[in-house]
Amino acid sequence: MSDAAVPAPTTPTLEADIAAALGPRSIVLVGMMGAGKSTIGRRIAARLRLPFTDADTEIETAHRMTIPEIFQEYGEPYFRDGEARVIARILEERPVVLATGGGAFMREETRDRIRERAVSIWLKADTDIIMRRVRRRADRPLLQTADPEATVNRLLGEREPVYANADLTVASRDVPHDRIVDECLEALRSYLCGPRSAVEPPSDGMNATS
Ligand code: S3P
Repeated sequence: MSDAAVPAPTTPTLEADIAAALGPRSIVLVGMMGAGKSTIGRRIAARLRLPFTDADTEIETAHRMTIPEIFQEYGEPYFRDGEARVIARILEERPVVLATGGGAFMREETRDRIRERAVSIWLKADTDIIMRRVRRRADRPLLQTADPEATVNRLLGEREPVYANADLTVASRDVPHDRIVDECLEALRSYLCGPRSAVEPPSDGMNATS
């Protein structure tokens, strides 16, 4: 058979595969403060042509207060109740890419909502990365302690076993953002569509260490 007789291959893109398999579900990023949930989430949303939503921003808009103000005025339990309500509402509306605050996934009810309506990705960051990133901003009320690094380590100890219940885990580290985004998209495709078939050509650089 001559080359001309070979039908043109259909090459669905990574993004199209994921969007089709995702259906009405959202993508939810979970993990510690400083893990890059908003930065990476925004880029995943752009690649998949989905709206991006940041739960912390939604909470601040709903209360017309910043998160430190909400913590100071009403306390953490009040913030957590509002956070759970806001996330439940967002997930009911339409498919989005949602970045959650670092403590949101600790609530069972929120994990249940996420499991029902979304695919979750834990952006897993170690203490060094988290500390380097959170030092740049002083707007995390939980880190206003005498020893923020000890606080981060304590929170990691409590939270990592729970974050591990996310559907997917991707290591957050200091590499170009698009590399983490590519890893999230590859992980989503494997999870949603199964492993790639052997006949598909590998995409450049995707076998790099993670
Ligand atoms: C929190 C993380 C923050 C914010 C609040 C509490 C936490 O969000 O929700 O300060 O409990 O880890 P980010 O993870 O986006 O920093």
